[in-house]
Formats: sequence, structure tokens, C-alpha cells
Amino acid sequence: MALSSDAFGWVSDLVRRRSAIQLPVGKEYLVESRLLPLARQHGLNDVKAFVVMARSRNEERLLRGIVEALTTNETSWFRDNTPFVALHQKIVPDLLAARPRPAHLKVWSAACSTGQEPYSLAMVLTEALPPQVTFEILATDLSQQVLDRARTGRYSQLEVNRGLPAPFMVRYFNRVGAEWEINRTLRSRVTFRQHNLLDPAPVGKVDMVLLRNVLIYFDLPTKQAILRRMAGVLADDGILLLGAAETTIGVDATWDRVQFGSGSAYRKLATQPAPCSSNVVGLSGQVPTQAGPPGLAVRTGPPTAPFIPPRGGHS
Ligand SMILES: C[S@@+](CC[C@H](N)C(=O)[O-])C[C@H]1O[C@@H](n2cnc3c(N)ncnc32)[C@H](O)[C@@H]1O
Repeated sequence: MALSSDAFGWVSDLVRRRSAIQLPVGKEYLVESRLLPLARQHGLNDVKAFVVMARSRNEERLLRGIVEALTTNETSWFRDNTPFVALHQKIVPDLLAARPRPAHLKVWSAACSTGQEPYSLAMVLTEALPPQVTFEILATDLSQQVLDRARTGRYSQLEVNRGLPAPFMVRYFNRVGAEWEINRTLRSRVTFRQHNLLDPAPVGKVDMVLLRNVLIYFDLPTKQAILRRMAGVLADDGILLLGAAETTIGVDATWDRVQFGSGSAYRKLATQPAPCSSNVVGLSGQVPTQAGPPGLAVRTGPPTAPFIPPRGGHS
């Protein structure tokens, strides 16, 4: 049975409050197709009946499952290619030029999905960095399901076919049965943690942030708030990389666009504009039991010093 507007409104409100993902009217088909497997897991062939059950039970596990099902986890190796070429040829060499040796680069891959992005980055850094320069990558996502997959470091043939150059497959992967597994050294460079972009940043200062193909799901105030947060964690000469369809232009005036070949990245402006009033985002960790007001609630937290936070700090 098709979702009623009331049931659709409940789902879209839940997802917006917990993730900021926007599900405007017209996305009913998406909600139905994403929730059908969950409904079936609970012995129901009908999404409407599943939503009625989830609303009445109000169990954390069910609500989380609904939000996770509505995330879009599309990703691939070296996605769009240009940023990774720019990283190798220009961004990383420029960053390092001003750093004394030995140096250590810290990178945050926010919204990393199933891991192709941070592992691609780890391959590029391994290739690009001179001796005496080490690196670590913190890779985060809202979805526990994609993080569980990412941590295994295992990918099907179909998945490795999506953008992974053959020489990198030979250098960084081992065959395990029908799958391909990232080697131990590369895996040790990436730490996966659950993190909601609506929460205070889980890192101290970093040299680069990859925030790719996730801002597209948010409304303008949320994009602004997240970009301001990113400015707060980036080193003064740090680099922000967004997805090909994303930009800071017309969103947040904190950034300077830097052209790298046919692609672009962003640096913080030397003089930061005054904090914008939209630096307020919703509280996904504490979930209101009833719909809050439109717009999102203030969420603040203590400053986070260590680059990679201890386990269990965030959920
Ligand atoms: C389309 S994928 C992008 C993956 C990768 N960055 C890339 O460009 O290939 C978007 C990811 O953002 C995550 N996401 C959505 N809302 C989020 C939020 N509020 N906090 C953290 N991650 C979120 C989703 O779970 C999903 O894995």
C-alpha cells in the first residue's frame, strides 16, 4: 500500500532531524523503495504498515535503521579523478613546501561511505609523499552499515572495477576468494568512526578535509553551518575538497576557490567573516520524541584536541 502523506511526513521529519537529509514531497517513491527491504526484514510486505509499527514502537534501532536506509552511499574509487590528480601533482606538494621535516599530514574524509574515498586518498598520499612525511586519515560517516563494510577493506570484483586503476590494484590489494582486500599497511592508515556532520567536529586541526558529495543533500543553513565547522578544523593553509557538483560560492563566504587544472579546491580566507547566525544544527545524538520546530536546534560541544578521537566517543 502506498505511503500516506502523514506517514511520509513522519519519515522525512525523522530523517531531517537526525541527518539533515532533505526529503521533500515528491520523494515518496524513494522512501518506499528504500524502506521496503527493512519492512521485509520485519516480516512486513508493506512500507506503510512498517512505518506505523516504527512510529508506535519508537525504538532507537528501528529509527536508526530508517535514517540509514535513506542515506545515499553512492561512491567509487578516485571519484571524478581530477581531485586525486590535483592532490598528487599540486595540492600535496604545495602543502608540504611550507612544512619543516619531518612532517605528518592529517586528513579527514567526512561522509566516506564504504571507504573507496579514504582508501583512494591513502593510495595517492602513499605515492605522493616523500620520505620523512607520514599521514593518517580519519574517515567518518553517519551510517554504521557503510562503516562496517569500509572497515573490512574488502570489495567485490564489480566494486574494484569502478575506477580502480590496475597498477593500484596490484600494489595495494590481495585477492581473497572472489573478493579483493586492501593490504594491511594501507588499512592501518585509515581509521573509521561514526560521526554525524551535525555534531561538533571529531578532530583537532587537520591539513585537508574531503567533504564530497554530501552537502547536496542538505538545505542552505545546514551547508553553511557545516562549512563553518570545516573552516574551524582546517589549518590556515589547509585544503577543502568538495564534490564536482558542490561549491562554497553563494553558500559561505569563508572560502577562496583555488583552481587546480580542470578542478578546484577551497582554502580559508585569511580574514574570516563574522560568524553567521546559521551556525546552528540539529541534535542527532539526542533525538526529540516529537517533531521540533522547523529549522535545526543549536548543537555545540567541547573543543576536540586529538586528531583521532578515542573509540566510543561518538555514536
Ligand atoms: C553519496 S555518499 C558520498 C561518499 C564519498 N564522499 C564520495 O564522494 O564518493 C554520501 C555519504 O554521506 C553520508 N551522510 C549523509 N548525511 C550525513 C550526515 N548528516 N553526517 C555524516 N554523514 C552523512 C551518507 O551516509 C553517505 O555515505
